[in-house]
Amino acid sequence: MSKVGFWLTAALAAACAAMVRGATDECQALTDHYLEKHHKEAEPYTGSNMLYFLHVPRTAGRTFHSCLLKIGTHPARRCPKAYDHLRLTNMTAPACYLLSSHDDFSVVSMLPPDVAVINQLRDPLDRFLSAYEFAIEVAARSLKRPKNFRKKVGRIATEDVWPWSYLIPFFAEDMRPKVAAAQAVPQPEGGRWIEVEQDGERWFHNKALNVSRWNLTDEEAGLNGGVLPLLDPYDNELVMSLREFAQHPIATELLHNGAAFQVLGITNYSHWGDAGTFRACLSAHPPLSAQLLEVAKSRVRRFTHVGTTDRLFDSAASALVSMGLSIHSPAYSGGDDDVAGRGGTRRRAAAADEEDDGSRHDDAGGRGGRGAGGGRGLAAQLQLMAKLVREARTRLQAAQRDLVNAQRDHSSDEAALEALRGRVDKAREDLIAAQDRLAETRDRLPTGEAEAGLGLGGGGGGGGGTEDVARRRGQRRLLEAEADGGVAEAVEGAAEELQADGSGREVLSTGSSANKVVVPQVDGFGNPLDMSFKRIPNSDVGTEFVRCAARAQQRSASRRDQSLAALSTSDGRHVAFSKAARKRIPQEVLDLIRSHNAMDTELHSLGLALLDARIAEQKAAGLFHDLPKLPPTSDRGAAAKRGSGPRLVKPLSERGGSEGELRR
Ligand SMILES: *[C@@H]1O[C@H](CO)[C@@H](O)[C@H](O)[C@H]1NC(C)=O
Ligand SMILES: *[C@@H]1O[C@H](CO)[C@@H](O)[C@H](O)[C@H]1NC(C)=O
Ligand SMILES: *[C@@H]1O[C@H](CO)[C@@H](O)[C@H](O)[C@H]1NC(C)=O
Ligand SMILES: *[C@@H]1O[C@H](CO)[C@@H](O)[C@H](O)[C@H]1NC(C)=O
Repeated sequence: MSKVGFWLTAALAAACAAMVRGATDECQALTDHYLEKHHKEAEPYTGSNMLYFLHVPRTAGRTFHSCLLKIGTHPARRCPKAYDHLRLTNMTAPACYLLSSHDDFSVVSMLPPDVAVINQLRDPLDRFLSAYEFAIEVAARSLKRPKNFRKKVGRIATEDVWPWSYLIPFFAEDMRPKVAAAQAVPQPEGGRWIEVEQDGERWFHNKALNVSRWNLTDEEAGLNGGVLPLLDPYDNELVMSLREFAQHPIATELLHNGAAFQVLGITNYSHWGDAGTFRACLSAHPPLSAQLLEVAKSRVRRFTHVGTTDRLFDSAASALVSMGLSIHSPAYSGGDDDVAGRGGTRRRAAAADEEDDGSRHDDAGGRGGRGAGGGRGLAAQLQLMAKLVREARTRLQAAQRDLVNAQRDHSSDEAALEALRGRVDKAREDLIAAQDRLAETRDRLPTGEAEAGLGLGGGGGGGGGTEDVARRRGQRRLLEAEADGGVAEAVEGAAEELQADGSGREVLSTGSSANKVVVPQVDGFGNPLDMSFKRIPNSDVGTEFVRCAARAQQRSASRRDQSLAALSTSDGRHVAFSKAARKRIPQEVLDLIRSHNAMDTELHSLGLALLDARIAEQKAAGLFHDLPKLPPTSDRGAAAKRGSGPRLVKPLSERGGSEGELRR
């Protein structure tokens, strides 16, 4: 029924689009194409279909994924990490159930037909500031790298992940000459006093003398041209200002309205080659963007969970219910070595017991296990294959674009068109060949061993090959049908609710159908799960989430301090982001950012409303429970106030102690 609803929406939308005044023919054609082709939608989560986490950058998605979704999911059902980053093209039968990536919604057409989607949204102003700060932080880290720095093979760095793959080099290039110039300014004898703000306190510091003071004497205050005021982290000589960045084309390309574009599947990272042109159409024609915003909204309403970053804990608690879990459900550890097809089933547990099993590691333990050397070789090879696939796809998209343009402006003769068609065909063949080679490499991965985090569950062991996989898939379906006797009923129930609603529009059924999610008992190959495998004893997913989120926050704060230390002037001032500094950003800059994010602002409001509605339903059904609170520690109050940046030593004496003739 929901499909009919969607087609109605699409037809209506197409009719509206036809009336969009001023839209060029090209925009019209792209709109028609989009509405016609991009119609696969998220399905409800039943417990036996894949859950895809559509990760919008800077929404606390990493914490959400690794501290909640992963910990709540049996390791044997998680997709290997490699799936996040390789942009594998066809995952219609991947034998795993929890997948997360920075891809946009265009990837959903390549996931299983019944894939369910969850996501987190954030106020676009916060998201934009966070992206600016993060890109600067990581770019600053690259300044400190030695010239011969080489990335570890098989390791995925932030710089490799979209959109950071563009933003970090962008900021690194911008700041390198500026930082060099600022650090080359010679310091006068006796240095200069600078104003410092740290953890909500202000004082003065002299780098040359290496002294900090609460107050300065008149003499000190006049030294070498006077005190240098606090460095504004959002507007200074070391890096492109927030204002300039907000107006830069790269921000429009990669960040503004990024959540809406990601939901629509038309980001800069889209699998659809015309996404860029289509985005340009949207910004040129407000009625068109209003129309597409409605498409995004109805899409989001179908998601199994929509949360918001500003209410991370409520979102996490609600997501658990939508996944058929509760805060008291089992918590599982286990790194990428334990994902789908690698262990945790009763069959494999028995085999594993016979080996000397000192080599298994948890998340933190790295990948020192057996087979790691060979795994690394395969990992590198897999990455190379995936890169070739990406390049082949780019070439195909370019060829298609050229052909469409040539057909559109009628300037080319038939021979030229024929040549372009030939290029498209050739590019398509190349892409298919590259995909096949990637699949082949994947299939060579042995099934039962740790392969440096790149083992993809699909391959049969040894020469088993496709037959083996097909057999296991059949077996899996059978077993699942048995184990999940209630699923079909549950799905039908959900469909009825939609029908009763009439429109298929308000798909808020997640909350009320949450009790129909059947927690799965088998892995992707049909092996019964060993439910005690990697289970964290005496704990539950709620407790583990709260702990893991606190740890993640601490880790990233200390890393940020170290990274930003590279961004300083020769007089010792440095870029330090903090809540206090954010409050000083001029209103007009905030307004400017807001004005570029009208779609995301509305989408975020919808996210908040959906979260409220679902929590209300979940509470009414007695399923929602607040997450536990961490016991307060002495650090935590300070942590809340804490800014980021290198730490300067505070003045020795108490504030306001008698320091002679004081000023200010
Ligand atoms: C993905 O693979 C399946 C099965 O091999 C095939 O039926 C389907 O058409 C493929 N989808 C895409 C988008 O290539
Ligand atoms: C500056 O002084 C502090 C103690 O007040 C000391 O810990 C630090 O090492 C000194 N730094 C330099 C660069 O001398
Ligand atoms: C994505 O954005 C980057 C940075 O602006 C640009 O260089 C690249 O060409 C874009 N890619 C696509 C497919 O539009
Ligand atoms: C130092 O200056 C602050 C104002 O910035 C003032 O409140 C404080 O009393 C001063 N301390 C002393 C010892 O004069």
